[in-house]
Amino acid sequence: MVSKHVIAAASAAAFVLIGNASQAQTNPPTIRQFDPPFYVFSPDPPHDLTANTGAQGNQPYVDSMAWDAFIALNWPAPNPLTQRGVPDRQNIIGGFYQPGEGGGKSSPAGPTVWETFKDTNDIYLDPPVKPTAFDVGESVPPACRSLAAANPVAAHRTLVMKSKFDDVLRGTKQADGNRLVDQNGQDVWYEVKLNRVYYDYVVQNQFYDSRKQAGKTIAFPASSNVTAAPGTIKVKAAWKVMGPSGTKQPDDPTKFYTTQALVLDPDTGKCSQQMLGLVGLHIVMKTKTFPQWLWATFEHAANAPDQMAGPQPNMTYNFYSAACANCAVNTPPTKAQPQVPTQVMRVVPIDGLAATKNALYQAAFKTLRPDNVWQNYMLVDAQWGAKTESPSIPNQPQFLANTTLETYLQAPSGTNGCINCHGAFAAKTDFDFQLTNAYPQKKGLLFDLFRVPGLASPH
Ligand code: HEC
Repeated sequence: MVSKHVIAAASAAAFVLIGNASQAQTNPPTIRQFDPPFYVFSPDPPHDLTANTGAQGNQPYVDSMAWDAFIALNWPAPNPLTQRGVPDRQNIIGGFYQPGEGGGKSSPAGPTVWETFKDTNDIYLDPPVKPTAFDVGESVPPACRSLAAANPVAAHRTLVMKSKFDDVLRGTKQADGNRLVDQNGQDVWYEVKLNRVYYDYVVQNQFYDSRKQAGKTIAFPASSNVTAAPGTIKVKAAWKVMGPSGTKQPDDPTKFYTTQALVLDPDTGKCSQQMLGLVGLHIVMKTKTFPQWLWATFEHAANAPDQMAGPQPNMTYNFYSAACANCAVNTPPTKAQPQVPTQVMRVVPIDGLAATKNALYQAAFKTLRPDNVWQNYMLVDAQWGAKTESPSIPNQPQFLANTTLETYLQAPSGTNGCINCHGAFAAKTDFDFQLTNAYPQKKGLLFDLFRVPGLASPH
């Protein structure tokens, strides 16, 4: 039986009624049917791989689990926002649209649940003091305050590289310290958001203070297969500045999940309001079955062409120009030419299993509303590890990268790959790099970690 707030059939109606929060609490855990043609629209993230996977192996089910997590985390949050990190059960992913008199009725697609998680910058403070409560919104850096007062909508999120982080991996820096520049010469912006389970664990143990981490065994809470409660969930997102008309490559905002945000440029110290479009999304979850966590990564479908197949004719890519066929591929911007667009190609093609799931879920989003923005996103793959030994060696796939988040670490070798890198360099902190940002520990530790052969060094 499928509970009331779940729709699971390829022929789901265009408009659906979602059970309210109090109903949902008394409902049994969501029942998930992973095999095509089924999919699940549920605002509750999957807590674990519960299917009996049989001869097919785990991967098709893990891919569905990744998509279901994507749906739950990109579900709109309630407006007004009284409690953070929870879904609006009266709404649906992408927002509903019901045609009717006077233009019909629609509901907002965002802010999404994950965007209301706690920002890492508001947990790891300098000096290390207890962070504000989970339900307190993002702090606004001084340089953005006057803009924030004038633009309350944008003020609910600030993508910043606060001055204290100016030499570490925040804002426009990828994991290896490099930036990604879009076709309009604009930097891509990054942010890390952490769910309530993560926040509670860190705050209760005072791990926001590096001295309290010393000598402790760090193990983030996993999901429960008894209560179906999700465990620790972390999100890392990549956003591009939406190119307005008149720019070299204007972006169509109806094809992206967009948000209004304040961005603080670390080099100029200037804060500006921007419309950002989501181009990359890492979702990481700790479950009972996966002590090495589940690592799902999604991208905007028009980010970059496959290196093997080459660009598709008549296709405009967010991070690739056909007119620049001789440009060096997957090469970071240089000091001499800091804002030259990065020519990005996907090194490892998306495999057949993920491609099949992508077609299924993209079609499913359209059944909710024909213009649902989420149909423009795809799962690159989902990596998982079920072992407690060899933390840096995943079960499957062997390597994984997102073209907007690990642009220059796509080669399937060495520590390129989610579990590969997090398991190798953040083994002591249960695969988590945020804990290594805790003060008063020396800043720049991550750069030190990355000064190893085979990894690009920060420019
Ligand atoms: C070469 C190393 C490397 C690889 C490969 C890598 N990461 Fe990371 N990741 C990092 C570093 C370093 C940070 C911390 C910097 C920051 O906050 O952005 C990080 C941060 C994160 C975060 C924020 C939470 C945390 O643990 O700090 C998430 C989520 C994440 N990565 C997911 C992924 C996923 C999913 C993949 C694979 C598709 C991946 N990473 C691949 C190095 C890596």
